[in-house]
Amino acid sequence: MANKQTVKSVKGTRDYYPEEMAIRTWLYDNMRSVSEEFGFQEYEGPILETLDLYASKSGEEIVEKQSYVFEDRSGEKITLRPELTPSLARMVAKKQGQLTFPLRWWSFGPFWRYERPQKGRTREFFQWNIDMIGEDSAGADAELVIIAASFLKRVGLNADEVQIKVNSRELMDAETNKLGLDDEARAKAFQWIDRKDKLKEDAWLNYGKELGFSEVQMQGIQDLINNKDLWKNSETLTEVFKIVEAYGMSDYISFDPSIIRGLLYYTGTVFEAWDTAGDFRALFGGGRYDNLVGDVGGQKVGAVGFACGDLVIKLLLDKLGRLPEVGSTPADVYITVFDQDTFTESLGLAKEIRQAGIKVTSHLKIEKLGKQFKYADRIGARYALVLGPDEIASGMVNLKNLQDGDQKQISRESLISELKKFLEG
Ligand code: HAM
Repeated sequence: MANKQTVKSVKGTRDYYPEEMAIRTWLYDNMRSVSEEFGFQEYEGPILETLDLYASKSGEEIVEKQSYVFEDRSGEKITLRPELTPSLARMVAKKQGQLTFPLRWWSFGPFWRYERPQKGRTREFFQWNIDMIGEDSAGADAELVIIAASFLKRVGLNADEVQIKVNSRELMDAETNKLGLDDEARAKAFQWIDRKDKLKEDAWLNYGKELGFSEVQMQGIQDLINNKDLWKNSETLTEVFKIVEAYGMSDYISFDPSIIRGLLYYTGTVFEAWDTAGDFRALFGGGRYDNLVGDVGGQKVGAVGFACGDLVIKLLLDKLGRLPEVGSTPADVYITVFDQDTFTESLGLAKEIRQAGIKVTSHLKIEKLGKQFKYADRIGARYALVLGPDEIASGMVNLKNLQDGDQKQISRESLISELKKFLEG
């Protein structure tokens, strides 16, 4: 056994052992409750999509470099979904005539991108997607930002630990237009700005030159992204900030003209959440994408949303010592077995307690009680029950508190109510 090698897992995937799974479920539960409190409905798209769905709409990087693509037996190019937004747009386009807008939809599931695995970045990851479709107003943008802030607050992150940085593609279009940049140069400028936080200062300046910008153009673009008052030139952002403030969430939000977003389909407000200490990549990102439903064959319709992975938020909560203690106890009560004659009685006791809604595990073979107690303790059970011939004869059960070792006899009739009292107390 010793020198046998474990079959390796696929690079960039994660194993969710029960403790990690419990954290993922806890995040999912918080995502669900925030989504539902804002009146969003859960949906799901397929994991397999045609490569065509993403081509030219999501951006070259995600399509050409990061997609897991294969040909199926008919020769069609299929991809494991790298994101959900194009699937959502396709689902809306398909049933557009029958849906009641604005739609408020959310989803949680796995995605795949062939990226270099590093801190906060894996090849298989989970995302919470939440989107509103069929609404152009700044109120929709603000609602999504408020949902994002509510989620951060819900999982215990304060406004001095995380900030949602908001900008507008539309604003940046107008401002770069004033600098005299045409569409091609603007796309490059966005590419340049988007790399700012990912490269060292020197490398970033060199990259600007490589993209073909003159010193004057580079200075102009830098002045834009250093201008913290630029939002005042955007009616939408002015409105968004006003609504977020009225909702009492403005401490979580700041304007940042360097937020551009890598994906091509964004048309208006864009935002990302970052930890203020700067230890991690973005916690989540999103924005307005008013052309995507039209691009996949539907009628043009306003849309805004964001997606949050489960990884960075977990790393940040862990760093801050803020991860909850969840899932440590698979069973609150452990039923020991005394001997062969009483085995079925023990099984019946387990059934009775289970039917009362208490988590119960029972031992499967006759072994020394000490060994059974030890196992019960190691899995985190709080109580162990012993049902021997004496207890059966007297209608009692022996209850052992595994935390302090205290043991007492209690009657079968009062067992369930006592257990409930102990477990809730
Ligand atoms: P995105 O910025 O590509 O946007 O991804 C959103 C979030 O998904 C990231 O901030 C991160 O939490 C997580 N994520 C992405 N890639 C990885 C990875 N390789 N490893 C771990 N986590 C990752 C989108 O996907 C857009 N579709 C979001 C959207 C929804 N926009 C509008 N609606």
